[in-house]
Amino acid sequence: MTAPVLYGIIFNGEKSCRNAALNIMPEVGEMKKISVKTSHPYEVVIERGGLAKSGEYISQVTKSRKAAVITDDIVEKLHLQTVLDSMRSAGFECTVYAFPNGEQSKCLDNLGKIYDFLCDSNITRSDIIVALGGGVVGDITGFAAASYLRGVEFVQIPTTLLAQVDSSVGGKTAIDITGGKNLVGAFKQPALVICDSDTLKTLPDEVLSEGMGECIKYGMIRDEKLFELMESHSLENVDEIMDEMVYKCVDIKRAVVENDEFDRGERMVLNFGHTLGHALEGWHNYRNYAHGAGVAAGMCMITDKLAPQLSERLKKCVSAYRLPTGSDIPMSELLPFCSKDKKNEAKDINYIICNEIGRGEIVKVPFSEFCRLMED
Ligand SMILES: NC(=O)c1ccc[n+]([C@@H]2O[C@H](COP(=O)([O-])OP(=O)(O)OC[C@H]3O[C@@H](n4cnc5c(N)ncnc54)[C@H](O)[C@@H]3O)[C@@H](O)[C@H]2O)c1
Repeated sequence: MTAPVLYGIIFNGEKSCRNAALNIMPEVGEMKKISVKTSHPYEVVIERGGLAKSGEYISQVTKSRKAAVITDDIVEKLHLQTVLDSMRSAGFECTVYAFPNGEQSKCLDNLGKIYDFLCDSNITRSDIIVALGGGVVGDITGFAAASYLRGVEFVQIPTTLLAQVDSSVGGKTAIDITGGKNLVGAFKQPALVICDSDTLKTLPDEVLSEGMGECIKYGMIRDEKLFELMESHSLENVDEIMDEMVYKCVDIKRAVVENDEFDRGERMVLNFGHTLGHALEGWHNYRNYAHGAGVAAGMCMITDKLAPQLSERLKKCVSAYRLPTGSDIPMSELLPFCSKDKKNEAKDINYIICNEIGRGEIVKVPFSEFCRLMED
């Protein structure tokens, strides 16, 4: 057996600051902020009740007072008015486009409708676009902002846990096409991200659980204290730790993204649980199997095989958030879904393993070797 190659691991490594610290808004009261120093630096504001101050915050990142707000039909009913009231009292003239919720809206057809809406709203390159919703709204709005008029500034107001800790930070935007998910997209960092954990109170339990899969992943790959915080709580009382948890998760994502903005190395560590997780989603034809469930089961399955000393602790935490700790599908049926190039067994695959909680490592092996490790 050839020894697995560790692929450029940088534990909590942070590049020196490329830009002077942003100080567009002071930290006040319960508000916490994280500065993301990518090629286009920005801040993530984490604040309960932040939605009602969104106009004030957005007015600090744009001179324009014209905004296009994009959301989905569920978030429209629950949270849009708060944002509009705040934006209008900060002097913004707003137009709104709301599309049917769900992954099926992250498509070319809807993208075309968003371009038409931006055009009808006379949005210019100096105006601002606001994405209010979960990862679907954030991804498609971000891509529209990256491409409309060759780029318009946009703000993320993520309203799911997954969007707050993952998709709104880091600048990946995309839509799905017939050939697969997220195949067309762009790197486009937002001008600002506003995370208000009060918005998460309206989430259905399954959607909250899904986001927890990603939060547990962050604890596993980078921060044992964060993992301890989550393992001492459950889905029932997670609201008690929500702000601290979101802050820590965003800060981990910040550090990884600052080191590898364009996903050429370290950013891969964020894929812990995703190799088998995507295989589970693929096996289910990307229907009736949630991404967060796949990540949770994937983390448990790889840990079972390669770091069994952590398995019981991880599974207990995953179960507390009502996520699956494995799957009955035989490994021989899942493995073909782990590689895009199923026929080329010599081709390398990168997988992530945590031998200790808080220390995720990227390991590169031939696909055939990965299959052998998983099947043993
Ligand atoms: N860009 C990235 O880096 C990145 C990272 C991870 C995932 N993603 C993408 O994110 C998407 C998944 O995001 P998601 O899980 O947020 O899904 P989603 O946007 O579909 O939201 C899930 C459901 O929750 C509803 N919802 C949103 N906020 C709500 C609220 N506050 N209260 C009640 N209901 C609410 C939505 O209407 C939807 O029905 C996928 O398309 C995935 O590819 C992107």
